[in-house]
Amino acid sequence: MFLLVLCLSSSSILIQTSEAQICLPKKHAALFVFGDSLFDIGNNNYINTTTSYQANYPPYGQTLFKYPSGRFSDGRMIPDIIGEFAKLPLLPPYLHPDPDFIYGVNFASGGSGALLQTAQGYVIDLHTQVRYFKNVKKVLREKLGDEEAEALVKRSVYLVNVGSNDYGGLLDVTNSTMTLLPVDKQQYVDFVIGNLTNAIQEIYELGGRKFGFLNVGPIGCSPVIRAMRKNGTCFDEISAVGRLHNVELSKMILKLKKQLNGFKYSLHDFYAVLSQVLTNPSKYGFKGGAGGCCGSGTLRGLDSCGGNKGIKEYELCENPNDYIFFDARHPTDKASQFFGQLIWDGNYTINKPYNLKQLFQL
Ligand SMILES: *[C@@H]1O[C@H](CO)[C@@H](O)[C@H](O)[C@H]1NC(C)=O
Ligand SMILES: *[C@@H]1O[C@H](CO)[C@@H](O)[C@H](O)[C@H]1NC(C)=O
Ligand SMILES: *[C@@H]1O[C@H](CO)[C@@H](O)[C@H](O)[C@H]1NC(C)=O
Ligand SMILES: *[C@@H]1O[C@H](CO)[C@@H](O)[C@H](O)[C@H]1NC(C)=O
Ligand SMILES: *[C@@H]1O[C@H](CO)[C@@H](O)[C@H](O)[C@H]1NC(C)=O
Repeated sequence: MFLLVLCLSSSSILIQTSEAQICLPKKHAALFVFGDSLFDIGNNNYINTTTSYQANYPPYGQTLFKYPSGRFSDGRMIPDIIGEFAKLPLLPPYLHPDPDFIYGVNFASGGSGALLQTAQGYVIDLHTQVRYFKNVKKVLREKLGDEEAEALVKRSVYLVNVGSNDYGGLLDVTNSTMTLLPVDKQQYVDFVIGNLTNAIQEIYELGGRKFGFLNVGPIGCSPVIRAMRKNGTCFDEISAVGRLHNVELSKMILKLKKQLNGFKYSLHDFYAVLSQVLTNPSKYGFKGGAGGCCGSGTLRGLDSCGGNKGIKEYELCENPNDYIFFDARHPTDKASQFFGQLIWDGNYTINKPYNLKQLFQL
């Protein structure tokens, strides 16, 4: 009864969640997250895949959650940090058996890309993630009524990070020599951007208006790729494909802005931010440098963290907070905090035309 009385206020709305009836400020915006392992918070726990695409075993999760939740980190991932800044409760992965969608949900899947062929059969591709969102919208309409569901979808933020795994598919390692497959890079990038554009347009047609994008990072500098080169240097040829992607991504977003009425966005320059941190880790408090905390071999770049991906032995650093990367590919909790903060309220140099905080407030 008490809750009902509170909800008589015209600025609140009564919501039935899995746990209780609650009153929410009428204007809360939800966060819907799409993408790959940089954003995955455990969807791959629920699909038929391999341990390479999962992180639901120790030492993942050791620092913060104290159990391996499926996040490819010792703690939180970037969307967790963004959610905290937005004052939202911890979002569930979409495939969680009893998810609550009212504050948003996370569809991201480790290993996935914008292309259907990327790790096909082992991941939830972007197109399927959008189909899942369509289902969430249906559930919201049932829970909130059509009008409130439409309003919530319109106010909410859609955060997307995809591409790195598509480009990872271009790597060819033969006789310990890393090269790029002989494909037309421009055409490949166009396919990735084309499929991403379709996904964004679908979300827009379902009522989404506010989009947050990360461009792809310097792919060739991840420990897993550097370790495959005898001298441990970044493989710039693959990063260059990422830079081409980033140019096309900017163009695509400007085009959508012109075409789609009410389309708003924030584009975060993850490439620039990660490059800076990797160039001078200690300046940003990362004493462990550009190698991983958990793994084996050069830079702990052999993807063996957890000891069940075909290699039993692995090393674990003492303090993950000293490191940018937790395993051979993914940031630590500390690094995700750093990235999340810059995505949230970093300046115009790295967030155009708005940062995510401003996008939420629009
Ligand atoms: C999961 O995949 C494995 C191998 O790819 C297959 O043998 C098994 O039948 C699959 N299980 C389900 C439930 O689809
Ligand atoms: C790999 O190396 C072996 C022996 O060094 C050589 O015989 C073979 O041709 C090489 N393969 C390629 C694809 O370069
Ligand atoms: C999506 O990717 C496929 C390759 O997986 C490509 O054939 C298709 O043209 C792409 N779609 C768009 C709209 O670019
Ligand atoms: C590192 O090795 C690659 C080949 O694996 C080579 O192309 C590159 O020039 C080397 N860089 C340095 C600084 O030695
Ligand atoms: C944006 O912030 C960075 C540090 O994060 C700083 O180096 C840069 O000068 C700032 N740019 C502007 C335009 O304020």
